Amino acid sequence: MILSPSLLSSDFGRIAEELQALEQAGLKWVHWDVMDGMFVPNITLGAPIIKCLRKKSNLFFDVHLMVQQPERYVNDFVDAGADMVVIHAEATNHLERTIAEIKRNGAQAGVALNPHTPLSVLDYVLDELDMVLIMSVNPGFGGQKFIPFSMRKVAELSSMIKQRGLSTLIQVDGGVDPENTAELVRNGADVLVSGSAFFGFPPYAERLKTFEEVARN
Ligand code: DX5
Ligand code: ZN
Repeated sequence: MILSPSLLSSDFGRIAEELQALEQAGLKWVHWDVMDGMFVPNITLGAPIIKCLRKKSNLFFDVHLMVQQPERYVNDFVDAGADMVVIHAEATNHLERTIAEIKRNGAQAGVALNPHTPLSVLDYVLDELDMVLIMSVNPGFGGQKFIPFSMRKVAELSSMIKQRGLSTLIQVDGGVDPENTAELVRNGADVLVSGSAFFGFPPYAERLKTFEEVARN
């Protein structure tokens, strides 16, 4: 299990220090929530900020674009140093083309699905993806409650991936905490995003250990 802490719950005035603290605590990934005020109600940050902070961190930058028509911006995020760019299936009419664009520019590509979006939208593109992000809350805010049917969605996606002999990662984002971690991992989750249940419980090295311990059960 990979834990990808969502900076949305960190102190935005100290992102550089937070990145350093994560790395020192043994984290490997960090999750950037990019919100445009259109696809979701909130606005957070964009490629110029990620580009500046790229120079200060060796973490794997996992960039979740909650942005309408992400095809307008994917190149900016790859150029800013994103290792993985995740776009929402609901936000574009040109999913296949945008996935290809991300990969052509040298990053890994993922697709995120809102809670109500069926897995069937992935049917023809799954083989092209490095990761699928299952949203287990409606995107836009940190600190929301995990939607229980997401568990079944993760299990169904996991069998779809196995059936095709793929190694696509399954990421789960929203309301993840040490209580639902074990079941998520049993159902096939590979990467867990945690915002409030991570940053609210320092020290980070201890919190990482808690997630890793429950994930083994
Ligand atoms: C929600 C974001 C999530 C969020 C997770 O729109 O995509 O990454 O920050 O926060 P928690 O873990 O608090 O639900
Ligand atoms: Zn996210």
